[in-house]
Amino acid sequence: MHEGSHHISRRRENWQMIKTSENLEEMSLREKIEFLNETVQPEEGVIPSYILGDPTIYELEHKKVFLKTWVFVGHESEIPNKSDFMTRDLAGYSVIISRGSDDVIRGFYNMCTHRGMKLCRADKGNKSSFTCPYHGFNFKNNGDLVGVPLQKNIYGDRLDKSKMGLHNIRIESYKGLLFGTWNEEAEPLSEFLGEFKWYLDILIGRAKMEVMGPPQRFIVQSNWKIGSDNFVGDSYHTMVTHGSIAKLGMVPNATYSKKGYQIHTNNGHGLNLGTPNPDFAFPEELKSEYISNLSGEQFEVLSNLKNMIGNIFPNLSFLISHTKVKNQLISNTTIRLWRPVDVNKMEVITWFLVEKHASEDWKKRSRDSYILTFSPSGIFEQDDTEVFTDITAAASGPMPMLKQLTYNYTMGLHREPVSDFVGPGVVYNDKFSEANQRNFYRYWLDLMNS
Ligand SMILES: [Fe+2]
Repeated sequence: MHEGSHHISRRRENWQMIKTSENLEEMSLREKIEFLNETVQPEEGVIPSYILGDPTIYELEHKKVFLKTWVFVGHESEIPNKSDFMTRDLAGYSVIISRGSDDVIRGFYNMCTHRGMKLCRADKGNKSSFTCPYHGFNFKNNGDLVGVPLQKNIYGDRLDKSKMGLHNIRIESYKGLLFGTWNEEAEPLSEFLGEFKWYLDILIGRAKMEVMGPPQRFIVQSNWKIGSDNFVGDSYHTMVTHGSIAKLGMVPNATYSKKGYQIHTNNGHGLNLGTPNPDFAFPEELKSEYISNLSGEQFEVLSNLKNMIGNIFPNLSFLISHTKVKNQLISNTTIRLWRPVDVNKMEVITWFLVEKHASEDWKKRSRDSYILTFSPSGIFEQDDTEVFTDITAAASGPMPMLKQLTYNYTMGLHREPVSDFVGPGVVYNDKFSEANQRNFYRYWLDLMNS
């Protein structure tokens, strides 16, 4: 780790840049990037507040982050049958995710190639073809244009339908998680996830998983990064923000969230593993399925897992938590997208996932456990969104620049990672650390520079 003092004095000088220009908006692109590099100092644990509240940064990260990386669009089990489809937002733009009559999952820009109308306005359904509401052009669910009303009469033989298929979007899957990207040059999804896949296997590859019900969606007046930041590395807040659960006796004590590992890998991904757990929080009867899907080391982690909280860069967070129901430990697995809507607004979309081969009784109790904790009406979720909203309000407007406001991300800078953990990545033997947030903002800054 670098010594911080030299960088901090340089940072102080560069805040002066902002005084010569009224605001970020008036800077050239090169000046903006330079200002970001001088003021965002992840390795020193210094993150300026304006990156959560400034509209110029929001616009820039749309181009540099969201149009460049892989972004989550849904789970394969949401469209289990041939000709099932769903429309989703991919970094701000509507796409159709369609399972063709040939069982192949494809992504299309949700736009008719004739005159640009939004082709499909339903959230989901089952259709072998899509008909444009404007002029009735009809596209098969593999993207081919197959029907044009009155074609022979009005176009003669001049219209070549084979050149007017829907525009394809790059969609790739990792163990059922579907991601899309607008970037034709992006590395394959598997490479982007890299070593983090080892942990994702435990999350969604341990058994055949399925989404139960449609995702729940709600709007929070928060910058999207606060959600990612909270899930990637903030176990520390659990003691206070969620302190009431210890008072209620749902967990043994207020520091229960400290024990375990904080882990990050390349590309900004990170998670927190709560361990050990004397009880097995997953269905006993699925042990053989887990063993056949996981390595011995991964199964050992699963067997001792208390909870698992993390974030796939940029904005897909995940969570395995549990509650005790009638003296039995019931885990629940959820994923959530912090979908940016504006600099100070996001849509939170949460999916509840459960083992497909679990008993109906387990599925129901696991879902109840999710509803009680991290659903939109859950006790934890409401604690968090209150905080996210207030942080966003304080980061908005001119104060972050005028007063050079920064956040402190120095927790755990004095610690060295351990080398005896069974999984890959940079591993700290304590969940109370901000190493994962520093890793998240480092990758964010690298992309903003690209
Ligand atoms: Fe929280």
